Amino acid sequence: MTAQDCFLVKAGGGLKGAATVPGDKSISHRAVMFGALAHGITRVRGWLAAGDTEASLASVQALGIPIERHGKNDLTIHGGPFLPPGAPLNLVNAGTGIRLLAGMMCGQPFESVLDGSEQLRRRPMKRIITPLRMMGADISGVNDRAPLTIRPAGLRGFIYEMPVASAQVKSAVLLAGLFAEGATAVVQPGPARDHTERMLRAMGADIVTDGNRIVLMPNGELRPLDLTVPGDISSAAFPLVAALLVPGSDITLTGVNLNPTRTGLLDVLRRMGADIAVTETGLEAGEPVGTIRARHSMLKGVEVGGNVVVEMIDEFPILMVAALAAEGETVVRDAAELRVKETDRISVMAAELAKLGANITETPDGFIIRGPQTLKAATVDGHDDHRIAMSLSVAGLVAGGQTTVLDARCAGDSFPGFAETMAALGADISQRALTPP
Ligand code: S3P
Repeated sequence: MTAQDCFLVKAGGGLKGAATVPGDKSISHRAVMFGALAHGITRVRGWLAAGDTEASLASVQALGIPIERHGKNDLTIHGGPFLPPGAPLNLVNAGTGIRLLAGMMCGQPFESVLDGSEQLRRRPMKRIITPLRMMGADISGVNDRAPLTIRPAGLRGFIYEMPVASAQVKSAVLLAGLFAEGATAVVQPGPARDHTERMLRAMGADIVTDGNRIVLMPNGELRPLDLTVPGDISSAAFPLVAALLVPGSDITLTGVNLNPTRTGLLDVLRRMGADIAVTETGLEAGEPVGTIRARHSMLKGVEVGGNVVVEMIDEFPILMVAALAAEGETVVRDAAELRVKETDRISVMAAELAKLGANITETPDGFIIRGPQTLKAATVDGHDDHRIAMSLSVAGLVAGGQTTVLDARCAGDSFPGFAETMAALGADISQRALTPP
C-alpha cells in the first residue's frame, strides 16, 4: 500500500481573522500559456503554484519556452515561437490545461500529443474536437478522449454556436482563432468566465464582446503581460462557507477576484440569507478584486438554475454542504455539467455526504436537499478531486467528532496550503500522511 494524505477534521469553535487565498487557477493557466505565446518577456506575480497549473507550466517549457521562477509564485516567461516537443505533453489532471493548449497546438506547424492522468483521460474532449475540426484542425482523440493527437493544418475562422456554456471550449476555439484566416466568432448560451477575452484584449488582440457573442480577428503578435494574479474565489469559497456554517465565525478574505462571471456563489448564498459583505478594492490583471467578509448565518433553502449555474460551476460541491445546513428545500437545476468535471460531482458528493448521514436526492441535472440535516463524523473519500476533498472537510467542521477525508492530496491541485489556511482561521483541520491498512 502506498502512503497517501488525508485531512483530519474536528468540529470546533468559530473561524476568526483574515486570510488570503492562492492565485486564481483559471488566470494562472492562462498567464503561463498566453505569456508563452506572446513575443517578449511576461512577468507574473502571485501565480498559483498548484498541481493543475504546474502541469501547464511544464508543458509550455517542453515547447521550448524558458521560464524563470523567483520563489514559487513569481514567473518570468520568455515568450516566442514554440518548438516541437520531444514527447507527449502531460497535463496530469488539468482539464483547463489540456483544452486550452489543444486550441493553441492546432495552429502550430508541428505534430503534438496532449495527454494526462487516468482521470483526465476519462473526461470528454469531443466538445473541443468538434469545433476545432470545423475550423480545419487535424485533431483526434482515442474515442474522443485524451490522448489527443494534433497535426499541422490550415485553420479558417468561423462562427461557433456553443451547445454548452463552457469557458474551456470557448477559449480553445478563440486560441485556435489566433492562428486562423479571418474572424472567429463564438456564441455562448450563458456567461462563461471571460478571463481569456480579458487577457487577450490586454495583450493587444482584436477581440470584441457583445453580450454572449465574442469575435476575434487575428491581428499579429500578442504583447507580453505584466500582471499580479488575484486570489481565487473558487478557493475562497471553502473558508467562506465554513464561516457561514460554524457558529461564532467572522472572517475576512482579502485580494479575491470578483469577476462577475465567477461570483455566482456569493449571489446564491446571499439569497440563502448569508451575512456576506463584499468591498471592491481595485483591479488586478484587468479583473475586479476585493475583500469578502463572512459571518455565521442561519441559511434557508434556495432554487438555483439558469445563468447563475455557469457563474458558480465549480462551487456546487461546497453549496451542497451549505444547503444541508439550510432550513427548507434547495433545488439545483441546469447543472448537468457537474457530471463531467474531475468526477461526477453530483453522484460523488451525494455518496460521500451520505457517509456523514446526509440524504441528497440526485436529479439528472442537479440535486434536491431538504434541510437542515444533522451530520455525524465518519471517514469519507476525496476521489482525487480537489473540490470534493475540500468540501468534505468543511462538512466535517459541522459533523461533530472527527472526520477523516481520504485521498486529500488532490486539494493541492488548486489550493496548496488549504489545511494550513483553514487552521490559521481557527478550524481544526490538519493534513497527515496515512498508510491505508
Ligand atoms: C475553467 C472553466 C470551467 C471550470 C474549470 C476552469 C477555465 O470549466 O469548471 O474549473 O479556467 O476555463 P468549463 O469551461 O468546462 O465549464
